[in-house]
Parts: sequence; structure tokens; C-alpha cells
Amino acid sequence: MKALDAISKRKSIDKFDKARKLCRTELTELLEYAQQAPSAFNIQHTRYIVIDDTESKALLKEISYGQQKVSDASAVIIILGDVQGINRLADISQRAVNEGIYGEGANEHIVQGAKRFYGNDAQAHREEAIRSASLATMNLMIAATAKGLATGPMIGFDAERLKKDFNIAERYIPVMLLTVGYAELGNWGKKPRLAVDEVSVYNAKGGVEHMLSK
Ligand SMILES: Cc1cc2nc3c(=O)[nH]c(=O)nc-3n(C[C@H](O)[C@H](O)[C@H](O)COP(=O)(O)O)c2cc1C
Repeated sequence: MKALDAISKRKSIDKFDKARKLCRTELTELLEYAQQAPSAFNIQHTRYIVIDDTESKALLKEISYGQQKVSDASAVIIILGDVQGINRLADISQRAVNEGIYGEGANEHIVQGAKRFYGNDAQAHREEAIRSASLATMNLMIAATAKGLATGPMIGFDAERLKKDFNIAERYIPVMLLTVGYAELGNWGKKPRLAVDEVSVYNAKGGVEHMLSK
């Protein structure tokens, strides 16, 4: 399926075909597409825990207030955002130097720039981690749709319990869960969207009233 069709056709799936499973190679391929997403300074804050065994899915269903799709989907990916992601930036930037994408020494520049930009602002680190993980998740959903698979993003879960029961360190924010599998018959159709002119303006200016100025 072409990317534009996948964007238009993607929808959140509630009913999954319990009998059809993805193999680990397929799941890894989806994560590779997720990893192609952009992130500020290329920090790549997103981390993934893939849950594909029955016992762990049963626990995750409990943590997700009993949402049945957690059991029925082939896998559920716990999408995490690393609030300390910046600590890997030196390594990440060095790899780009090694590949000749950045010039020699540019990595130090980038790391210093990023550290100056975020400073010790915990909220800024947190917001960036959530931004990165959200973009990666979107990529994953589009890639899955393009491959004829079904996904469902979820925020309906107890984040504190998730971290405890899956032994997730404090630095990782549970950004969302993502069910992945094959759709069963009987799912909702594509839900309506606000029209573009209801949500956008061109060339807003100071002192001039527009749709988003009040
Ligand atoms: C961050 C996020 C969290 C969501 N959490 C849940 C959830 O916990 N349970 C659920 O059934 N749907 C959840 N959804 C799905 C939304 O209801 C769905 O995206 C929205 O109704 C638009 O429908 P569509 O995705 O089919 O276009 C979530 C979606 C997003 C983006």
C-alpha cells in the first residue's frame, strides 16, 4: 500500500483476529520503521517493550482496565520516552561523524548545543521524550497499515502499575501502548475529521484577530 493510502486508511482497531500472529521478524521490521522518525537533535528518545506472550498480555490487559484488544492483538508494544535520552547523544552523533554525515568535531558542537537548549529543565526533557515517542509511534502505525496490519494506540492504562509490573526504570515515561495484529470483522469505520478550514489559518499576525487568537 502506498504511504498516502496508508495515512488515509489507518484507523484504530478494537477487534483483532486472535488466530493471526506476527512473527518476531515482522515486529522488528515495524520497529525499524518507527526508528526512522525524526527527533530533536536526533536524540531518539523512544524505547519499546514488545509484549507477545499470553501471560504478559493477560497482565497488561489488567493494567489496561480490562481492554480486550490487549489480549486479542498479536502483540502490544509499550512505547516509552527516555527523559535522559540526551545522555546518548554523544554516541549517536559520533556514529554520524563515522559515516561522514557530520564533519569531524561536529558531534561535540551538537551535544553542547542540545545541553544548552534543554538545560536542567525537567519538563522540557519530558515533553521532548513524549514528542519523539509520538512521532515514532505514528510511523509504526503507518508502516503497519501499509503492510495490511491493524493497530490501536492506547492511553487507557495505569502507568505507575505498568512501570512496576514490567520493571521499567523511572527515567522512561510510558507514552502509550500500541496494539498490533490483524483486524477482525466488525470494527468501526473511519471516524470523521474536522475540516482543514476548521483547524488551520494562514499567516497569523500580531494584532490581527484570527481563528486561533482567542
Ligand atoms: C494517545 C491516544 C490514546 C488512545 N487511547 C485509547 C484507549 O486507551 N482505548 C481505545 O479504545 N482507544 C484509544 N485511542 C484511540 C482513539 O480513540 C482514536 O484514535 C480516535 O477515536 C480516532 O479514531 P481513529 O484512530 O480510528 O482514526 C487512543 C488514541 C490516541 C492517539
